[in-house]
Amino acid sequence: MIESLKGRSLLTWLDYQSEEIRFLLDLAKQVKAETQRGEQPQRFRGKTLALIFEKRSTRTRCSFETAFGEEGGHPVFLSTADIQLGAKESIEDTARVLGRMFSALEFRGFKQSTVETLAKYSGVPVYNGLTGSFHPTQALADIMTLEECFGPARGQKLVFVGDGRNNVARSLMVICAKLGVHFSVLSPPELFPGEDLRKTCALLAEASGSRISVSADPEEAAGASALYTDVWVSMGEEAEREERLRLLRPYQVNQALMDRTGRRDTIFLHCLPAVRGEEVMSEVLDGPSSRAWDQAENRKHTIKAIMLATLGRAPGSAPGSAPGWAGNY
Ligand code: CP
Ligand code: NVA
Repeated sequence: MIESLKGRSLLTWLDYQSEEIRFLLDLAKQVKAETQRGEQPQRFRGKTLALIFEKRSTRTRCSFETAFGEEGGHPVFLSTADIQLGAKESIEDTARVLGRMFSALEFRGFKQSTVETLAKYSGVPVYNGLTGSFHPTQALADIMTLEECFGPARGQKLVFVGDGRNNVARSLMVICAKLGVHFSVLSPPELFPGEDLRKTCALLAEASGSRISVSADPEEAAGASALYTDVWVSMGEEAEREERLRLLRPYQVNQALMDRTGRRDTIFLHCLPAVRGEEVMSEVLDGPSSRAWDQAENRKHTIKAIMLATLGRAPGSAPGSAPGWAGNY
């Protein structure tokens, strides 16, 4: 399994087998346990990581930077306000150059096509740190958090409440469909995820045994192991704010909605940052059911696991076989 992950990019979970995702989840748990024991191996020593950000970030940037740096790697933060990418230099040329200097690249920004192009032309592993389409590293931390509370995620029910077309909802739909987790989007019909992704996930769900559904009815929350929400207005969509608030006000996660699950052990998840009083009330985010802070911490452990496996540094990797520049012109 390790061998199949070595040298790979993570652009969307659609590209990964369920066994590979399972492997990464188990590795993230090992990595977290090591950290809790105070161990600090130096598995990224001699490695470099470029962190390219077109959009703001707290958790994702800090997870990549600390996970890589504390194990001896050298992360370099590159805001697109400072580098040539997108202004004076094409994505292809930037990828070619960075691929000669770095062991791996991370990109956060607007277009999925940008992260795809970076992966195609750099020749080194590229990690999607969020685009308008997907936020895959987030989804791995979300499943890890679910498993910390309930054991194996297979057969659990995760309900995403809010903007069902956004990057977080779409990534959750894919990872749940791959792993056999039942997944529902609870949102107004105008914000249901697109038909194409729903069809793709329906096929994956058939194979994994998960049930994927979309609904505007709060009854969809019934039986949920976890209710999950995200901001109503994602980065780059600020012009749609008024319309979004109008559509999503009935879909706020508050105690009344938590009660509709009919379970006392339902947890609340949020990728953060949160806007209290919009998508979630403080009574829930700061209440006893919230696992949002564990979830934030798990970003670091899961991101470290992804980098260890793809850079050939996970336990069991053949020595000296870490990927490097592969000569992609
Ligand atoms: N959840 C998440 O991606 O947070 P940041 O935007 O702070 O990175
Ligand atoms: N959907 C949000 C996620 C932030 C982590 C956004 O794209 O802004």
